[in-house]
Amino acid sequence: MIADLIIKNIDNLITLQGPNKPRVKEEMQDVGLIKNGIVAIKDDKIIYVGKGDLPKEIEKDENTIIINAKGKTVTPGLVDSHTHLVHGGSREHELAMKLKGATYLEILEAGGGIHSTVNATKKATFEELYEKARKSLDIMLSLGVTTVEAKSGYGLDDFDTEIKQLEVAKKLDEDHPVDIVSTFMAAHAIPPAYKDKTNEFIELIIKEMMPEVEKRNLAKFCDVFCEEGVFTVDESRRILEAGMEHGLFPKIHADEIKPLGGAELAAEIGCISADHLVAASDEGIKMMADKKVIANLLPATSFNLQSGKYARAKKIIEEGVPVAISTDYNPGSCPTENMQLVMSFASIIMKLTPEEVITGATINGAASLKLEKEIGSIEAGKKADIVIFDAPNLEYIIYHFGINHTDKVIKNGKIVFE
Ligand code: NIG
Ligand code: FE
Repeated sequence: MIADLIIKNIDNLITLQGPNKPRVKEEMQDVGLIKNGIVAIKDDKIIYVGKGDLPKEIEKDENTIIINAKGKTVTPGLVDSHTHLVHGGSREHELAMKLKGATYLEILEAGGGIHSTVNATKKATFEELYEKARKSLDIMLSLGVTTVEAKSGYGLDDFDTEIKQLEVAKKLDEDHPVDIVSTFMAAHAIPPAYKDKTNEFIELIIKEMMPEVEKRNLAKFCDVFCEEGVFTVDESRRILEAGMEHGLFPKIHADEIKPLGGAELAAEIGCISADHLVAASDEGIKMMADKKVIANLLPATSFNLQSGKYARAKKIIEEGVPVAISTDYNPGSCPTENMQLVMSFASIIMKLTPEEVITGATINGAASLKLEKEIGSIEAGKKADIVIFDAPNLEYIIYHFGINHTDKVIKNGKIVFE
């Protein structure tokens, strides 16, 4: 077989080879490191991964691109499995409020926060939303991200805006090298028109919106903001169970600020992931471990909320919960697309090892999108989504924080950033 692309002399090839399932405990330490590694690609797939030279069945011709990765570190394409990518406007005015001590929930309760982004997203045209999100995707790609999850949730009761967000994500998935996986999240806040009528809003989501999202194949997952003053545990259960009936796999914003029991609910109904978990209870974490619900941790959100509180990542891993790591990129609680910075925060602040961090940013992130069989590791047969870092080893990428270490990004077998 003739390879299209060969990456050779790789000082540190971090393959993440292993079972194509969410990794737990010490499995998160084994990143399948190959010294002096080599990878061969044909079309959009990896055809060989090993050490030293290629076996003779894998040939090259004058069209084969050969990359010499001496002194470099190579990993699977990063997976950012929790973002609110498509939205209008930005919320830098909240910084002054936060510096004066206002909390996220106080700003939301006063009609700001998510509501202000809902207004901006309603006003924005399809083209404006597309252009803004495309710029963010370019930044993400330059930082080594090859797959992104994108939630709706800035239309709420305005279904046209929810659809507009999902359609923008769909079009970007077609047009942009980065793959996008969509999540339907109209249950992101209680719209002002439904204040004290949450039940009616839930009916609208379940009866009018979900069937249409299913019919138009606009999302793979359903998500809900289970939080004090937003959706209760019972309301969240109702929404996510209805979502499952419409073919949407459940995800949940759980115990981000108050310990409501979101982690417990995630285990009870079998969510694919429970995200945030800053205030998750010991019992909730244990229940998630039993059901292998992925904990999607978002340290840059904690950083930006200025609460000083972070998810108990070490404990969550010790209990046997598979951990993924994501940006949560959104205009309010986490205005950054920078997955490499998030990886540094996960280590420096949450105390995860570099091995746990890269596992969370690749194979476990892929699993939280139910894509662990296609992406998330460098193995023959998987999609050729690969990052070449200008870094001598994995630790360096995480330790030397706040800058972009990417040398090249390969997506579907093509060099898309260098
Ligand atoms: O994951 N907490 C709810 N949703 C987002 C924030 C969205 C926003 O503030 O616009 C989050 O933090
Ligand atoms: Fe979020």
